[in-house]
Amino acid sequence: MLPTVKTSTLREKFPVLRAIAYLNAGTDGPLPTAAIQAAAAELEREAEQGRAQRHFERRGELSSDLRSAYASILGCPAEDTALTSCTSEGIGQVIGGLELHAGDEIVTSDEEHPGLLGALAAAHELREVSIRMVSLGEVAEAVGPRTKLVACSHVGWMSGSLAPAELADVDVPVLLDGAQGIGAVPVDVGVLGCDAYAGAGQKWLCGPDGIGMLHTTPQLRERLMVSRRGYSNLGQPNAGLQAGLHEDARRLDSMSLSAESVACALAATQVLGGPGWLAVHECSCSLAALLAERLAESGREVAPRDATTLVSFQSPDPPAERARLAEQGVILRDIPGRPWLRASVGAWNDESDIERLLSGLA
Ligand SMILES: Cc1ncc(COP(=O)(O)O)c(C=O)c1O
Repeated sequence: MLPTVKTSTLREKFPVLRAIAYLNAGTDGPLPTAAIQAAAAELEREAEQGRAQRHFERRGELSSDLRSAYASILGCPAEDTALTSCTSEGIGQVIGGLELHAGDEIVTSDEEHPGLLGALAAAHELREVSIRMVSLGEVAEAVGPRTKLVACSHVGWMSGSLAPAELADVDVPVLLDGAQGIGAVPVDVGVLGCDAYAGAGQKWLCGPDGIGMLHTTPQLRERLMVSRRGYSNLGQPNAGLQAGLHEDARRLDSMSLSAESVACALAATQVLGGPGWLAVHECSCSLAALLAERLAESGREVAPRDATTLVSFQSPDPPAERARLAEQGVILRDIPGRPWLRASVGAWNDESDIERLLSGLA
C-alpha cells in the first residue's frame, strides 16, 4: 500500500495533471495554480501601481520570505542561503569564486550534468585546474593531496543515484549539485556535511524558470571571491566604491530576480509543504520504486538507481519513444548518450500516471 499524502488533494493543485501524465519534474516541475495566481497578482500590482519605491520594498520582502522557505528545506539558516537564478549559477559562483591554481585538482563524477561540467571546464581552461572524474560512488575516496574541492551531484540526473555518505567526512570543501535533490529527497546540509549546495527552484520545488538557491557555510563563503557585484548583493549599495558586499549569503545573490518569479516560487513551496515534506518525499520515492518494479516486471531494464524520485530505463530508441509517448499525453525525457528514458515521479503523481506510462510502453 502506497503512502497517501493526501496526494489526491495535492494532485488537484496542478493543472497539467488534468490531461497529462506529467513525469518530467527533473527537467521542470508542474506549476501549481496557486503559484500562477501569485505571479499574476504581482504583475497586476505592478501594472496598476507602477514600479517605484514600494515595488522594490515588496521585492525585498518576497525575497526574504523565499530565502527563509528555501533555507528551511535545506536545513540551514537563511543567512547561509543565497537566491540564484538556477543551479548552474550557484555552482559557477562557488567554483569560479574559489582561489584555484594550475596543478590544483577538483574531484567529480562521470555522471554530471552540463550545469556542473561547464563550470569545471571553465576552471580547467581558464585556470589550468585538473579535473579528476571517477564514478559517483567513489568521489570521497578519490580525494588526494592536490584535491581542493569535490564537486558532484547529490542525486545523479541520469539515473537517480545518490552521492556517497562518506563525503561528509572528507577534509576538503564539498559542493553538491542539488538540482535533482532539493524538493525530491530529504536534504539536510548539516547531515550531508557539504560546504555548498546549489539547487533549482523550477524542478522539484515546482517554481518558475529562473529561480534557484545556493547554500554556503560561513567558512566557505569567506574564501569565495565575488567578482559580480550590484544592488542586490552590496551591503550599502549607495556608498559608491565603499559599498562592500553583504556579510551573509546575500553576497552571492543573483543580480535581479523579479517579484513575480519570486512570488510564484514562494507559493509553490507553500503548496508542496502543505502535506508536510516528509510525507511528500515518502510518497514520491515509493511511487518511483513502484514504477521501477513494474518496469522490470514488464521486461524493461531499469538503470542502477537509489531511493530517489528518478527512474531511468532502457528504450530501443529513446528520442522516438519519448515523442510517441508525448503524443499519448505521457511526458518524460530521454538521456543524451545513454539508451534510457527517464521518468521523474513526484508526490503530485499517482498510480494512474504510472499505468499510462506502462500501457504507452507496451
Ligand atoms: C544534476 C543537474 N545539475 C544541474 C542542472 C541544471 O539546472 P539549472 O537549469 O537549474 O541550472 C540540471 C538540470 O537538469 C541537473 O539535472
